[in-house]
Amino acid sequence: MLAGKRILLTVAGGIAAYKCHDLIRRLRERGAAVRCILTEGGAQFVTALSLQALSEDKVYGDIFSLTDESEMGHIQLSREADLLVVAPATADILAKMAGGLASDLATTVLLATDKPVMVAPAMNVRMWEHAATQANIAMLEARGVIRIGPDEGDMACGEYGMGRMAEPEAIVEAIEDFFGGANRPLAGRRALVTSGPTREPIDPVRYIANHSSGKQGHAIAAALAGLGAETRLVTGPVTLADPAGVEVIHVETARDMLAACEAALPADMAVCAAAVADWRVAEAADEKLKKNGGGPPSLEMIENPDILKSLAGAGNLRPALVVGFAAETENVVANAKKKRKAKGCDWILANDVSRATGTFGGDANTIHLIGAGGSKGGVEDWPRMTKEEVAGRLAERIAEHFGGGS
Ligand code: C5P
Repeated sequence: MLAGKRILLTVAGGIAAYKCHDLIRRLRERGAAVRCILTEGGAQFVTALSLQALSEDKVYGDIFSLTDESEMGHIQLSREADLLVVAPATADILAKMAGGLASDLATTVLLATDKPVMVAPAMNVRMWEHAATQANIAMLEARGVIRIGPDEGDMACGEYGMGRMAEPEAIVEAIEDFFGGANRPLAGRRALVTSGPTREPIDPVRYIANHSSGKQGHAIAAALAGLGAETRLVTGPVTLADPAGVEVIHVETARDMLAACEAALPADMAVCAAAVADWRVAEAADEKLKKNGGGPPSLEMIENPDILKSLAGAGNLRPALVVGFAAETENVVANAKKKRKAKGCDWILANDVSRATGTFGGDANTIHLIGAGGSKGGVEDWPRMTKEEVAGRLAERIAEHFGGGS
């Protein structure tokens, strides 16, 4: 089940560290390669030698070790893994992860990684229940960190409550679920998603933009990655965190967005959720435009490239499934159908943004999916749902379209 998967396991300093021996053994039995980082605290509970013997690999511990760095730089350590697991994850390491500290090899790797991260918290019940730990774990989960446990039960310190590390068996199961066939029907597929607004310069300090938050596009990228797709997200300027497990390319203008999308091809699917500016200033000024009594400048506008249309017309590089959005205030379905034809895309999600729906800038969408089949002349009416739910449902429909796997 885990054959060929590479797990980078950080063992931090808690009494539950002894369970990591069993964890490594079980992961290896299922075919995973395990490489360990042992923190200074962890080394008080288990030895590097035991981890090395069980993982049959070198154990890393010291960020300032010249030998380690020359053999395997700390950035490379995470690059070579498919998943980073922290077990046990102590209150201390969770706090450092939440705060972005890079005070030793483990925390540096966890900060430098672009790979998915799973934590198995283990600590005293009061430490777990402390507002600081709860805030840290909530922040980490919001950033896409996967949490397993803790469990309730007797603790090594003699107390009873939440804080026991999840059993190795449960951690292995969570890792299998993460890589698992059934839950990852898009494994082996490549997805491209656009999100957010674009920013079109007028001069070096001014620009034209729009209110797009990027919430919908980011949620779609996260949902596709969650189903196993190798996902690239090309986003304009937003205040959202990069979704975990997604390769994010930050751009400003529509032209940059198009270039980044073209560079991301080939892809099996493209979902265009960005609110791309339709026009830009023909020639942005090199210097800041001045108020010099002559009245406001007149700006000549020209059309921006249509990214959705370009991807749908990309010849032999065209993704097999191209999906667009249409925000409509009236004749929602009819207008969206026209847009689907005009853009040449396969599916279009018509988003009813008429004032009564309260969609614009809000957290919920009213969607009609056009082009994916369905009983009502190729239109599926979805109930009003949050942007995350829209993302989840779309990702599932896409997985069905691809027949549940590669
Ligand atoms: O034409 P309109 O902006 O209504 O079309 C919306 C759809 O087209 C969305 O999927 C949007 O991401 C995409 N689009 C694009 N590039 C543009 C304009 C829109 O990709 N320049």
